[in-house]
Amino acid sequence: MKEFIQSLPKVELHLHIEGTLEPELMFELAKRNDIHIPFNSITEVRHAYNFHNLQSFLDIYFQGANVLINEQDFFELTWAYLLRCKEDNVMHTEIFFDPQAHTERGISFDVVVNGIHGALVKATTELGITSELIMCFLRHLDEESAFKTLAQAQVHKDKIIAVGLDSTEVGNPAGKFERVFKLALEQGYLTVAHAGEEGSASNIHEALNLLKITRVDHGVRCTDDENLVKQLINDRTPLTVCPLSNLKLKVFEHMEQHNIVTLLRKGVCVTINSDDPAYFGGYMTDNFMAVNQALPMNKIEIAQFTFNAIEASFIANSEKQRLATATQGYLDQHQ
Ligand code: ADE
Ligand code: ZN
Repeated sequence: MKEFIQSLPKVELHLHIEGTLEPELMFELAKRNDIHIPFNSITEVRHAYNFHNLQSFLDIYFQGANVLINEQDFFELTWAYLLRCKEDNVMHTEIFFDPQAHTERGISFDVVVNGIHGALVKATTELGITSELIMCFLRHLDEESAFKTLAQAQVHKDKIIAVGLDSTEVGNPAGKFERVFKLALEQGYLTVAHAGEEGSASNIHEALNLLKITRVDHGVRCTDDENLVKQLINDRTPLTVCPLSNLKLKVFEHMEQHNIVTLLRKGVCVTINSDDPAYFGGYMTDNFMAVNQALPMNKIEIAQFTFNAIEASFIANSEKQRLATATQGYLDQHQ
């Protein structure tokens, strides 16, 4: 099954580019930019990646991002991720970035976007990987900061397809950003939000109703509310689930307890994604493998995650058709 999963065409919809910063690159950039990091070796860094909840991870994640200073740094970070995509046959990826994690440190919005976007353009021609960019607001910061970030994005609107919401879920309800999301929608952005990762099923309701989101990022706590699950099935609302992340952040204690395969079999549009692969121990293939190892599936079920992701993606219908045909062809060949 490893070979089938490795070469299966994939689409990633939940990936924080700052979460792809591998310790090796972190050290290299820290040295190049003369930034102090509180680790003496790569082993020490990996040791620190022992999280007990979302917040304990976020503290390390924001600290890691401090080594990113120049456009070239953002380019190299993104390019390294795209090379990993190629290994895992990820054909299309929709990437989150957290501008406020950088602008708060005095790095300009333009430096961040131009570095990331440069690598995405290169990947289209050199790797045959297509992509979209989603700008996330940090929910632990205030509404004013989010409005300011939306204004900074204005000149880069052609490079950004959607806005999202991430960082500390509990204590920072979706309603805090209702007005910012309303303006973003008026400006033509699509909207997504992290909800029901650590927070309750009611947070998913709130994000759907107040932020008009087209996808729920994580959303695994939906199973606490049977009616919500029915609604997600009826509306084909996609969930961008991140299995290894959920394990590392103790959303589920064991992969055997994860609800992703149950949700798939019920007809929810669930997808598999890597979230912050450098921190959570795996990219796309690793996530598929981990789920299948704990909760064995047949090949049609495994490929359904790709069909769901194609359906849930923000690409044109003609492009969706092209990816679906490639995936079906692969499945037919390997039955
Ligand atoms: N930022 C990066 N990864 C995140 C996650 N899993 N949840 C919330 N915010 C994040
Ligand atoms: Zn996430």
